[in-house]
Amino acid sequence: MVENERKDDNTGDSGGKSPKKLRVLLRTFGCQMNEYDSEVIRSILGQEGYTFCDSPQDADIVLLNTCAVRENAHRKVIGHIHALHHLCQDRPFILGILGCMAVNMEEALLANPALKIDLIIGPDSYRRLPELLARAAGSGGPAADTDFDISENYTGINPDRVSRVNAWVAVTRGCNNFCTFCVVPYTRGRERSRALTDILAETEKLAAQGYKQVTLLGQNVNSYADHATGFSGLLQAVSRVQGIERVRFMSPHPKDFPDAVIDAVAREPKVCKHIHLPLQAGNSRILKLMNRTYTQEDFLALVRKIRGRIPDVGLSTDIIVGFPTETASEFEDTVRVMEAVAFDSAFIFKYSPRQGTVAQKKYPDDVPEEEKTTRIVRLNAIQKGISLKRNSRHTGKTLPVLIEGLASRRSAREFQGRTDGNTIVVFPGQPGLAPGDIVPVRVTAATPHALKGETASP
Ligand code: SAH
Ligand code: SF4
Ligand code: F3S
Repeated sequence: MVENERKDDNTGDSGGKSPKKLRVLLRTFGCQMNEYDSEVIRSILGQEGYTFCDSPQDADIVLLNTCAVRENAHRKVIGHIHALHHLCQDRPFILGILGCMAVNMEEALLANPALKIDLIIGPDSYRRLPELLARAAGSGGPAADTDFDISENYTGINPDRVSRVNAWVAVTRGCNNFCTFCVVPYTRGRERSRALTDILAETEKLAAQGYKQVTLLGQNVNSYADHATGFSGLLQAVSRVQGIERVRFMSPHPKDFPDAVIDAVAREPKVCKHIHLPLQAGNSRILKLMNRTYTQEDFLALVRKIRGRIPDVGLSTDIIVGFPTETASEFEDTVRVMEAVAFDSAFIFKYSPRQGTVAQKKYPDDVPEEEKTTRIVRLNAIQKGISLKRNSRHTGKTLPVLIEGLASRRSAREFQGRTDGNTIVVFPGQPGLAPGDIVPVRVTAATPHALKGETASP
């Protein structure tokens, strides 16, 4: 355990209130796993009597659940911290940094007095949050716990969920893959799977609470294993829980798609026909340098197999441009694979060296920034055209849509939901419809990012 007893001017003097009366502002950056973890944190603190608020001006404690995956994720958090101190100049508050950046930036964050950080807590230590917060509130001593705990799955905690429609359910935590660009194995430690019985008990509770959809989460979710049950067994078991209408999963790795998993997605009616299949790069030499363990040919063969079994499957992907040593012609392989596969959507990133990763240590970040920009702009333009084409195939069809909420906070007239294949649909609301309902929607138009439609009779 890393405990830090540094004292400085920011004593977290909270006006003598008992810690349990303190109001907490919790902000979340990064991925769905962080959103889930924030729900775990809300539950842990809520049980201790802490209350939550939305504005820094009302907060006694500000907790930032951070991401470290790219440099701009870091920059965002640092900018946020400075803005908070500026906004609350005359009010002392306790500032805690949680999540991935807490782990990989612990020393640098504590060493910078301008950031006035009182608490640093990594993703396996949230059960200690009340104890460490009380200490920061009482004595004013900054505290840190960024240790990994391979047994920590937050079993027994009922996450205080934000959505009433979709429930995130973490089934694995951590990652063993060590893709050479990625910081996650260093910020979240080794992979562990939750017991199937635990996951099913949570899913049954969610169904009883009225949740229609669960999304199974893990950094490499399809390497799930609990004794004899692998990911296909998990999918089957969760999707057969009475009352759950849709099961999604995030993020799978292409290396863990045995036939049994593809068959489970194909066969189980409640498992959504959408697969996120992170390509990262289309060139086999770059994929090898990335330690992705598949080649361009393997990836294309997997896509063919998936589409053979699940013809109308929605496919999305992640891509990195400008990985060290990626030449212009190797980048063309990524273009070719994107065009060949025609993903429904793609998240495209510029390579960002992360401290401590193999890529950062072994390969110079030698693709110039302007070249990375040229490549990302080109891929985004290509994908926009492909997404429009893919979405247009739905025009005129009537599809079941799970209503997630209002399309915009400003207007109560339009709902937003998703098709089974994960495409966003916007359509005019009707009396009697509410988030959580699954309604037939006739698609009237398509854009690259969404479908437009109107409710149809079933
Ligand atoms: N565990 C998930 C997600 C990891 S982070 C998975 O394996 O799919 C989400 C995405 O961020 C990755 O898929 C990758 O495309 C991107 N990413 C990760 N590290 C990066 C880096 N150093 N620079 C740029 N993009 C990165
Ligand atoms: Fe990172 Fe690779 Fe693990 Fe995903 S699978 S979290 S990209 S190391
Ligand atoms: Fe970011 Fe950590 Fe998620 S680095 S993407 S918050 S696993």
